[in-house]
Amino acid sequence: MNNDKHDLPSLTVKEIMITSVVTVFPEMTMGEAKEIMRLKNITGMPVIDKNRKVIGVVSIADVFQALDEHKLDAPIRERMTVKVHSVKPEDSISVALSLFRRYQFGRLPVVDDGNTLVGLITPKEVIAGLAAFLKLEEINEGDLGTKSGSEINRTLEFHLQGGNFDQAGIAASTLKKTLQEIGIRPEIIRKATIATYEAEMNVVIHADEGILKAVITADKLKISVNDRGPGIANIEEAMQVGFSTAPDKIREMGFGAGMGLPNIKKSSDYFKIDSLPGKGTDLYIEINF
Ligand SMILES: Nc1ncnc2c1ncn2[C@@H]1O[C@H](COP(=O)(O)OP(=O)(O)OP(=O)(O)O)[C@@H](O)[C@H]1O
Ligand SMILES: [Mg+2]
Repeated sequence: MNNDKHDLPSLTVKEIMITSVVTVFPEMTMGEAKEIMRLKNITGMPVIDKNRKVIGVVSIADVFQALDEHKLDAPIRERMTVKVHSVKPEDSISVALSLFRRYQFGRLPVVDDGNTLVGLITPKEVIAGLAAFLKLEEINEGDLGTKSGSEINRTLEFHLQGGNFDQAGIAASTLKKTLQEIGIRPEIIRKATIATYEAEMNVVIHADEGILKAVITADKLKISVNDRGPGIANIEEAMQVGFSTAPDKIREMGFGAGMGLPNIKKSSDYFKIDSLPGKGTDLYIEINF
């Protein structure tokens, strides 16, 4: 089974972006930028001119730097980042994903062809959009068709790379499409999609690399995820709702609630997880049709 880009949901930036964006003008001071970030609980803002054209970005890092140099009274114009990467509303979210991944930006302004600000996205919107897409589409589409057991017997395999957020959701969305084609009941597809998404993200977030294999038989779905990575020292602890070792950077992207493993277990009829600390983790689940 190939898992090329065609399987990525065809979501566009426009569908997930924030449209009420907090912005600042270049003549405001760094002190004012700091205060706005504190009040709005954000870590950066586009700097716009009178015509809403984006002329820079000011981030919390710029504020800290100004603070260090006792330059909070300096105009934002002098301290902002002027080389701004941006995306267009019609861009696919994979464009945004690869920019976030390559440059580790906290945010990307969304601009029209005239460089006028129309929105903003952070990795959180991208991931939330992707996750919502995976679940929503299924509720809307709910293909209730049935096919005979003899038509069912497929194996899908995906290679997962730690840290590669470009791939986020590919295994889950491809499996979901396949189950829909086969005519599996929507509530079963929903469980399978959630479990697969959580399992693949755990490898992307916590491990070095792994293989996710999904075997579809006439009466059940079997998913195994074998990874190479740090493993889990205390599985009982990792299984607890709310337990997470995800660093702040990952939490900013909307992960790290410590819900993944409990959700996988809840979604499956059989659940098994083994791990060798320092070597890797093996997850195996079954979902009955
Ligand atoms: N494949 C893995 N390799 C190494 N550690 C893992 C793996 N999967 C889970 N863990 C560990 O178990 C913890 C709990 O995992 P779980 O999926 O429940 O939560 P999370 O990934 O931290 O957050 P969330 O899934 O809610 O985004 C993780 O924080 C991590 O320490
Ligand atoms: Mg997780």
